[in-house]
Amino acid sequence: MSTYTIDTATSRATPSPAPMKRLTAPAIMARKSGEPIVALTAYTMRMAQLLDPHCDLLLVGDSLGQVIYGLPSTIPVSLEMMCAHGAAVVRGSWHALVAVDMPFGSYEEGPEQAFRSAARILKETGAAAVKLEGGEAMAATVAFLVRRGIPVIGHVGLTPQAVNALGGYRARGRDEAEAKKILGDARAVADAGCFALVLEGVMEEIAVEATRSVACPTIGIGASVECDGQILVTEDMMGLFERTPRFVKRFGDLAAEIGAAAAAYAADVRTRAFPTSEQTYQPWT
Ligand code: KIV
Repeated sequence: MSTYTIDTATSRATPSPAPMKRLTAPAIMARKSGEPIVALTAYTMRMAQLLDPHCDLLLVGDSLGQVIYGLPSTIPVSLEMMCAHGAAVVRGSWHALVAVDMPFGSYEEGPEQAFRSAARILKETGAAAVKLEGGEAMAATVAFLVRRGIPVIGHVGLTPQAVNALGGYRARGRDEAEAKKILGDARAVADAGCFALVLEGVMEEIAVEATRSVACPTIGIGASVECDGQILVTEDMMGLFERTPRFVKRFGDLAAEIGAAAAAYAADVRTRAFPTSEQTYQPWT
């Protein structure tokens, strides 16, 4: 598990005892209607290190397909990618519960396939939970995993892996039939044993009703402040991309900062202002 931290003097991972006890799935579950759960995505060791002191839950989201790999959607993301990034995030954290997304195609065939994939994720990463998308159709799979000791986070509403079926990323549940379906989905996976449930891109009324009617905490993204917690894609809320979706609040301006730093470096290199004697080795220094 979390037996590695980063030696910041060398930028290398070194084994060391976990300084804090990690949050567990039951501890997150116990936050229902309590102190809001703070969750963010993380894909790399260093980002995990920076976020961990502030978060209860770090999600290694399959959104890494777009954010890290420049893919057009989450569909091409593989189990190998999720395992590699999941392990990096576990190595960079010690406090937050780390959950890893099950990528498209790794669980939908049935409970046995889902168990094999989830077991691989937990073994190879040291993460404590998986997340999978889908409602009623996934309830039997969720129950199968939970009964076999795999903590599961559900994900209903706008489910990005279903982009081809949904026809886009618009918020869901504007009409009554769809609202009813999402509420049914939320109840089905919660009753199947999820310890938390992500509600993505749904009308506020649905988020409020789902939060009221399921036993596990709901974690909203484009949902409602009434959810039991919130999650955002870290790079979105840090301002790493020019486009900010409506449901995202920008808490930083990383794109501008990185651009400015790169421009200053380029200017210094071109004018030979860098490196100076301070950054240059001599036998006497
Ligand atoms: O992949 C992802 O990042 C997610 C979120 C809920 C943000 O599923």
